[in-house]
Amino acid sequence: MTDRYNARIVGTGMAVPERILTNADLEKIVDTSDEWIVTRSGIKERRIADENTAASDLALEASLKALNDAKVKGEELDLIIVGTVTPDFTLPSTACILQDKLRNKKAAVMDIVAACAGFIYGLSIGKAFIDVGQFKNVLVIGVEILSKFTNWEDRNTCVLFGDGAGAVVIQPSKEKGGILATYLCGDGSLANLLHAPIGGTRTRLTKENFDLKQHNIIMAGSEVFKSAVRAMGDSALKVIEQAGIKSEEIDLLIPHQANIRIIEATARRLKMPMEKVYVNIDKYGNTSSASVPIALDEARRKGRIKKGDKVLLVAFGGGFTWGGALIEW
Ligand code: ACO
Repeated sequence: MTDRYNARIVGTGMAVPERILTNADLEKIVDTSDEWIVTRSGIKERRIADENTAASDLALEASLKALNDAKVKGEELDLIIVGTVTPDFTLPSTACILQDKLRNKKAAVMDIVAACAGFIYGLSIGKAFIDVGQFKNVLVIGVEILSKFTNWEDRNTCVLFGDGAGAVVIQPSKEKGGILATYLCGDGSLANLLHAPIGGTRTRLTKENFDLKQHNIIMAGSEVFKSAVRAMGDSALKVIEQAGIKSEEIDLLIPHQANIRIIEATARRLKMPMEKVYVNIDKYGNTSSASVPIALDEARRKGRIKKGDKVLLVAFGGGFTWGGALIEW
């Protein structure tokens, strides 16, 4: 027992759409092959939301599972943080919509726009509010419906992304452990390597630029790849150092699932065998901010995380944004 409270994850949940889009399906849409996608990215299939599903719908499903796991009611939440770059609307935030679906009337609500690092950013912000004693029941979600912002004629991007949501409930705890450290960083000078250039206040959406699909995600894949390898490794080492532990003490690494080769490079930099790394990119592709909380929930349900384990989360995304969190379960 310590004198101060630590933020601790007390519940996890995830949700993915039922529809599976395989590499074989994509071969019929663009000039690609299962062999290219698997060797270059590790992805075999991904989930795609139907036309009527919005980010808040998947977020609700994942949140209800996390709340049930934590034995916390929606109305008891003090803070709801949604990491997403694919919100229901420009205004209001997806967090506001989710709050209403959870029948909550008292929480502070906010969306975080940090692409694939959105969940790690949210977790770090939630932890900070708990550390200063301001909030007790905090819900952090990563949710994306990237399929609605994907150019299905662009083979450079459309084979990579998938839809999904993951959620955690965090609370103050006097037990040893919890979220030991977090690290966040960004570099806006590289924004144009991964962006959706049209549809904001810089260039409004018009019929002409909509038809040219300029509101969709555009990515300079190999430049993003190099930055991701560097930043994921840096994040891991920084957060390990902040927590005052050694990388050999990590029981499980849960990296953002963008590309199996980025994941393997991160593990190599930490001198960590792949048996200690959680990988599900083959099933879901890159679900951006949802990938880390989905993997965390799956890892727990598969018995890959037990009490006392040290679990390292790292992510990198458009912005660029990146970061990590070290958790003693
Ligand atoms: N099928 C077949 N060929 C393809 C495909 C495809 N789906 N996509 C691209 N190619 C071709 C390219 O046109 C290129 O052909 P060329 O040499 O004739 O020009 C060739 O394959 C090689 O392309 P590269 O871009 O060099 O391939 P690379 O090995 O870099 O792999 C990939 C591409 C998978 C996109 C990789 O660069 C990557 O994963 N990048 C990082 C993505 C990432 O981490 N994103 C993170 C954040 S996502 C977010 O924030 C929402």
